[in-house]
Amino acid sequence: MKNYLILPAVLFSIVVGYSQKNKNAYELASPNGKNKIKFELVKNAPKYAVSHGKTEVITPSDLGFVLKGNEDLSTNFEIKGAKTSTFDETWEQVWGEKKKIRNHYNQLIVDLEQKTGNKRKLQIQFRAFDDGVAFRYVYPKQNVKDSIFIMDEKTTFNLKEDGKAWWIPAFKPERYEYLYTASPVSKLDTVHTPLTIESKSGLKLSFHEANLIDFASMTLEQTEGTQLKSNLVPWADGVKVRVKDAFTSSWRTIQIAEKSGDLIDSYLILNLNEPNKLGKPSYVQPYKYFGIWWAMHIGKYTFWEGEKQGATTAHAKEYIDFTAKEGLHHLLIEGWNKGWTPAWYENRMHMFSFTQSADNFDLEKVVEYGKSKGVELIGYHETGSNLINYMKQIDAGFALYKKLGIHTVKIGHVGSKLNMKEWHHGQFGVNYFRYVLEKAAQYDLAVFYHEPIKDTGERRTYPNMLAREAARGQEYNAWSEGNPPSHVVILPFTRMLSGPMEYTPGVLDVEIKQGYPGKRIHGTTAQQLAMYVTFYSPIQMLADLPENYNVPAMQFLKDVPTDWKDTKVLNAEIGEYLTTVRKDKNSEDWYLGSMTNEKSRDLTVSLSFLDTSATYEAQIYADAEGTDETHNPTAVAISKKKVKSTDTLHLKLGGAGGTAIRFKKL
Ligand code: NOJ
Ligand code: CA
Repeated sequence: MKNYLILPAVLFSIVVGYSQKNKNAYELASPNGKNKIKFELVKNAPKYAVSHGKTEVITPSDLGFVLKGNEDLSTNFEIKGAKTSTFDETWEQVWGEKKKIRNHYNQLIVDLEQKTGNKRKLQIQFRAFDDGVAFRYVYPKQNVKDSIFIMDEKTTFNLKEDGKAWWIPAFKPERYEYLYTASPVSKLDTVHTPLTIESKSGLKLSFHEANLIDFASMTLEQTEGTQLKSNLVPWADGVKVRVKDAFTSSWRTIQIAEKSGDLIDSYLILNLNEPNKLGKPSYVQPYKYFGIWWAMHIGKYTFWEGEKQGATTAHAKEYIDFTAKEGLHHLLIEGWNKGWTPAWYENRMHMFSFTQSADNFDLEKVVEYGKSKGVELIGYHETGSNLINYMKQIDAGFALYKKLGIHTVKIGHVGSKLNMKEWHHGQFGVNYFRYVLEKAAQYDLAVFYHEPIKDTGERRTYPNMLAREAARGQEYNAWSEGNPPSHVVILPFTRMLSGPMEYTPGVLDVEIKQGYPGKRIHGTTAQQLAMYVTFYSPIQMLADLPENYNVPAMQFLKDVPTDWKDTKVLNAEIGEYLTTVRKDKNSEDWYLGSMTNEKSRDLTVSLSFLDTSATYEAQIYADAEGTDETHNPTAVAISKKKVKSTDTLHLKLGGAGGTAIRFKKL
């Protein structure tokens, strides 16, 4: 697991001589020298600026906080010390997009102290990586007696140039589940992060945060021109963060890339999280799964008891037989417990039970039947955002799963506010989601959240944090106007930069013949296959109804893994298209996924990623001739071809289409 290579802190090239001329200014460069952070105390106020090569990215911007009583923690400072160091380590992911990740950065730590008043101390830590920069605040325990109430964060990001930003709004009832808007930075609303921007000079930037613990999430507010300001998500009473006597903010991160695909190939967020605390527990496994789930979303079954009840013992047995027949080992059953009503999604304090089975459903019997067929159930807790109810039952609910040999739990949080009071993304929610993750580990449970807070890289520290929704997923295609084709080629460059997403792909009947009239998926079946490669998650649902998998394209879904040795992005433009290849962790095979927005596309890809000494069989699942979103969208052309690393392949994607390929080493 450990493979550390920590270089000694010899830093003449990192912190430029600069500091000798002006002891109030420091410059920190990334290992390859391209990304630079400049720190300076200007009229006693800390400021930072960022550049990439010759391009100024962030012009001098503010740092600091406002505390209770309007106490200003952003000025009146002097520098008490500045330390630099360098770090270079290669660590292994328990599961992930690639096995080994290099964490290489240069660091500057500046210790500040206010000159008068409470003489508060504040440390600011900066890290410069080759793929971006980050900084955070550390407020150490000190000689001020009162508790800390952060009323505002003063951090700004003054973008040198305008650009095209892809954003979803913050402070809205559907939490993180919105379609992206593309607009100039100067026209932004208050937005969630990751906020991805293509700047006028062509640089791709993504603003986010990493290692968010016991603090409020950062949203970004456009204040004037191209200036963005941190707008922390408050508690119901308006306080942004309350802590006893010390705090460490999350890292404010800016990923910087020259090509769109390089944003996806950046592991900066993970590198800013603490190393693995759990080791490699046997209950943490990547897998694919089926579910009694889509049938409820398309109206074939109901979540609640009654005539069309989805979670019955009889349906569960059918699904278990189907799961075993298709060679999968995990099944999610929603609506298994008491508390579901036709109004389950309404904003109110729902009273779900996490131990009592619904009528017509015998949990123990179903678990036993599953075991006899090699199929394990995935637990499901829909909290309805009533955490008062959930916290009373969480131990009993988790203990029940442990007793039954269930090792994963999906936990949902439908509702605009937690307990109808607090934003999901406030400090209360941040602490809740971390608490549940740690508690799950105590019960040997891996977790995937729906309606959670955004991902800030927790999976590095807690590999039982498998995936989360935290975006507008496939479910919207079942009952809303649906996700437009551009949505699925924006997600990999925005939401998915933060971590694995539970999009729930694999609905092969994209026209949803058994669903609500007029509701459908705005893409082709081949595109659904491609998502298993372009959308990274250690767990991937095969979301469709069992009867829709009786097609030749199912072979790809059986073959495609969910754990990878390596990942490369071959071509990409944000919101337009992308082609990703990944190497299976447990074989020599590679897989390719390519997706486009509404425009059909011919893409040529070099196969130079393949082993140079081998021949592969390319098993190609493409949009059939003339196929696009509205013409014969379920038609998948399957072909086979012998290829080598010196070959190129031409991919023909229909509008809203895709291609999926398995390269089987011969
Ligand atoms: C919304 C979730 O995203 C979905 O997966 C789940 O089926 C429903 N809530 C019910 O809990
Ligand atoms: Ca959802």
